[in-house]
Amino acid sequence: PPPGWTVDTDVVVVGSGIAGLVAALRCRPHGRVLLVTKALLDAGSTRWAQGGIAAALAADDDPAEHLADTLAAGVGLCDETAVRVLVTEGPDAVRRLIDLGAEFDRAPDGSIALTREGGHRRRRIAHAGGDATGAEISRALRAALKDADVEVVEHALVLDLIKDASGRAAGVTLHVMGEGQPGGVGAVRARAVVLATGGLGQVFSATTNPAVSTGDGVALALRAGAEVADLEFVQFHPTVLWLGDGARGQQPLISEAVRGEGAHLVDAAGERFMLGRHELAELAPRDVVAKGIMIRMRETGAPHMLLDGRHLGARTWERRFPTILATCRDHGIDPVTEPIPVVPAAHYASGGVRTDLYGRTSVPGLYACGEVACTGVHGANRLASNSLLEGLVFAERIAAALPADLSADDWAGRRAGDPQPAPAGQGLVGPRARGEIQRIMTAYAGVLRTADGLAAAARGLDRLAAEAARDRAGAPEPCAAAWEATNLLTVASAIVAAARLRRETRGSHWREDHPDRDDGAWRGHLVTRLADGGL
Ligand code: SIN
Repeated sequence: PPPGWTVDTDVVVVGSGIAGLVAALRCRPHGRVLLVTKALLDAGSTRWAQGGIAAALAADDDPAEHLADTLAAGVGLCDETAVRVLVTEGPDAVRRLIDLGAEFDRAPDGSIALTREGGHRRRRIAHAGGDATGAEISRALRAALKDADVEVVEHALVLDLIKDASGRAAGVTLHVMGEGQPGGVGAVRARAVVLATGGLGQVFSATTNPAVSTGDGVALALRAGAEVADLEFVQFHPTVLWLGDGARGQQPLISEAVRGEGAHLVDAAGERFMLGRHELAELAPRDVVAKGIMIRMRETGAPHMLLDGRHLGARTWERRFPTILATCRDHGIDPVTEPIPVVPAAHYASGGVRTDLYGRTSVPGLYACGEVACTGVHGANRLASNSLLEGLVFAERIAAALPADLSADDWAGRRAGDPQPAPAGQGLVGPRARGEIQRIMTAYAGVLRTADGLAAAARGLDRLAAEAARDRAGAPEPCAAAWEATNLLTVASAIVAAARLRRETRGSHWREDHPDRDDGAWRGHLVTRLADGGL
């Protein structure tokens, strides 16, 4: 596209995981919808989701029990009203997903087969293809999109929010990557902007997230002056396949459902070290299990722990976990005959862009859903398999709010103001900063944190920002890799700022220098905003 191009629509949805696809499909009856996504439609985290989607679907389950488990996992920081919405609307939202074409695994009696994961006291995780739930949901939603008259632009990296004179969202700027060409920056003018850009796991060296999870939506929201909350709560998944010390990039996930079906965590001596640490042992909430693994690794000096699922038998492995089985075998481990070496890795941002119960952010006209959002349902530690559900339920809620929100909006009057795209690409850091950011965050702001370590992280990140500001002559070409590195730096700095402030240990925020939870001082949220260039 020529530089300076502009397209018009009613709703621009940014991102194509479960939240973005559902938002696009459900908003379409209310106006024209343009969906933009950074790579291909299925390149984000959704298609990597293994375990499943949690909902009180079983006859012996109840949304009230799902509520209780979610609140317990969130360690006092969940917004109970938001969780109530999630768990009560969840079962029907999953049924609507099935009506759209998603095929979940079935029990012999034809009912939806349900498994358990950490923190769930009931079997309530619906799954597909054994351990390929996200791939099936993505397939079904992409198929539905084909018939939905939604315009789709792939290979388009969102840059900044366009606001009109009143401060209302009026579109986004995009960098569209042309095939074999440098690409071009343009603008989408829209009455409503829905951020569904997913996570930020690439802030760390080793993560379950794909390479595209660079926190673009949180960085955009910060630059737009929106409120972002709970960023210090980056969840580490307890079990990724250990690929040797210093493994970098996306790591193979070993789903919690493997523990849900009965596998045990053991140390090199074969001892089940989670027994006695929590009444649910290996099925304790995720933060508890990740900590248990880290503590045992330190106690024994081992580089990893072991997940022993030999007793599940070959048939269960082949039927329930075909993806994990194949991945382990590709790496020379056969889970049917030997334990799997596992370590924790960065997995999920429990915080994000702060929203109300209808996905509205603090900037009028800007909505957020899915991992980029902080709806309040996760608190200090997300309950397993609540993320697909959150993306689904709150994307539908944005669509439900849209007609009234749009009719209250004087778009014709706003259009007269002809909002200009904010200049993009200022203060870019070079693509090489990405590795340095990951190294700093992994060394000092990962699963274990201290005041000194976090101060070192802040110094390292500030140095990268100062170098970028100083070295104007050596400024990088404004390419996607530079924008991603810049977004990672913004997000990493915000995580570190919040982690330094929260001087307690809660959920997935583990401060060795403040090892206890402090409800008196810290049962609240840290809300971050970017103002006058500072956090
Ligand atoms: C898993 O399958 O263990 C991941 C589930 C989740 O992150 O909710």
